[in-house]
Amino acid sequence: MSAAKASQAASSTTVCSLRSSMLTLSILTLISFTFFSLKYLQSITTTSTISPSSLSSLLTSKAVKDEEIDDEEVLTDVFHSPEVFRLNYAEMERKFKVYIYPDGDPNTYYQTPRKLTGKYASEGYFFQNLRESKFVTDDPDQAHLFFIPISSHKMRGKGISYDNMTVIVQKYVEGLMTKYPHWNRTLGADHFFVTCHDVGVRATEGLPFLIKNSIRVVCSPSYNVGFIPHKDVALPQVLQPFALPAGGNDIENRTNLGFWAGHRNSKIRVVLARIWENDTELDISNNRISRATGPLLYQKRFYTMKFCICPGGSQVNSARIADSIHYGCVPVILSDYYDLPFNDILDWKKFSVIVREKDVYQLKQILKNKAQEEFVTLHNNLLKIQKHFQWNSPPIKHDAFHMVMYELWLRHHVIKY
Ligand SMILES: *[C@@H]1O[C@H](CO)[C@@H](O)[C@H](O)[C@H]1NC(C)=O
Ligand SMILES: *[C@@H]1O[C@H](CO)[C@@H](O)[C@H](O)[C@H]1NC(C)=O
Ligand SMILES: *[C@@H]1O[C@H](CO)[C@@H](O)[C@H](O)[C@H]1NC(C)=O
Ligand SMILES: *[C@@H]1O[C@H](CO)[C@@H](O)[C@H](O)[C@H]1NC(C)=O
Repeated sequence: MSAAKASQAASSTTVCSLRSSMLTLSILTLISFTFFSLKYLQSITTTSTISPSSLSSLLTSKAVKDEEIDDEEVLTDVFHSPEVFRLNYAEMERKFKVYIYPDGDPNTYYQTPRKLTGKYASEGYFFQNLRESKFVTDDPDQAHLFFIPISSHKMRGKGISYDNMTVIVQKYVEGLMTKYPHWNRTLGADHFFVTCHDVGVRATEGLPFLIKNSIRVVCSPSYNVGFIPHKDVALPQVLQPFALPAGGNDIENRTNLGFWAGHRNSKIRVVLARIWENDTELDISNNRISRATGPLLYQKRFYTMKFCICPGGSQVNSARIADSIHYGCVPVILSDYYDLPFNDILDWKKFSVIVREKDVYQLKQILKNKAQEEFVTLHNNLLKIQKHFQWNSPPIKHDAFHMVMYELWLRHHVIKY
């Protein structure tokens, strides 16, 4: 036999054995499919004689599959692990259940939001969205987590002092502890509350276990204060409604380097303004742009900028970050120790520039060193994450509400009763 023929013969036997093993494989697959579907049918009939709920769960799991396919083009490398997110998010949508304690008069500071506008809109949206979502259960035995529905923003609206807030929160939670068995099982570890106003964090200080064990979803998550990064959740601060439409695909109009205008209510803002106020390339105003100068001038400026400087104010956070994202201006995070919202899910380096406060003196050079292509990439990535920093009513897939729910879902894996 010639070498060529030998190899031909060898390859034909390979094909042959390949064919037979594929046949075996398909037979095996067929058998196992039949077995499992029989088993599934059996389990349905034995447990509940085909209950409507098992039928509907069959239908939803089909719907979920279709949704997963839609996701393919949505999830990109702005995620740390797009595939993990996709699968875990789908599981959250199928399973996650939260119990809202029904106690407390909605006309005072419980249950319902104060409003959905202004600096603390995120808190209001969460309260409203949770009820609009399918994550709520009336059956505490089905719940993965327990929501304590007390709104510090509403308390603020009623002019209640900080000290009195602490007492109100303490009395309320102690009431829940006595009335229901859920708190005592884990001393609050499967409980959470949500506050965008930073006073809300202080208002929980009357109950040490609320601080130590419960998940605190807050807008001012600093490594520098009591916030516990692995347990608590950063709530994005979003001032809604936005005054103007979203920016994007408008790079030709972004001819200015960087921008900030605001109150000098923190050390870093004072320094920022002092160093750069007269610069000809960085547009830094040490005061808010007066409304009298022209309508929405402040917002319109975001459309003409490459970078928008976001220094921390009285807290690490600022609604300016969500503004920058909305208007398509790459945010420059100038706020040390800020546990950025969704930091563990999204890679902030792909759509923002993070500058240490001590480097504020080199700010202009840092931004000028970014090549145009680098800016374009950051800008384009920004458009991919805009939806995660927006609240809707009712909430929609992957929006700010669902991202916060996903953070809670991640934490429920750690806390199990
Ligand atoms: C705080 O609580 C005390 C005692 O209930 C009450 O007399 C006082 O008016 C409250 N103050 C404020 C600002 O809420
Ligand atoms: C939970 O524990 C507290 C403090 O020990 C107690 O006062 C309360 O009655 C307990 N709650 C229930 C429902 O047993
Ligand atoms: C650029 O700015 C001009 C003038 O404001 C506006 O008419 C145009 O739509 C902008 N271009 C894009 C792509 O947004
Ligand atoms: C900016 O200009 C003003 C007015 O000319 C001046 O008073 C101020 O010292 C300047 N600031 C810096 C940092 O040069």
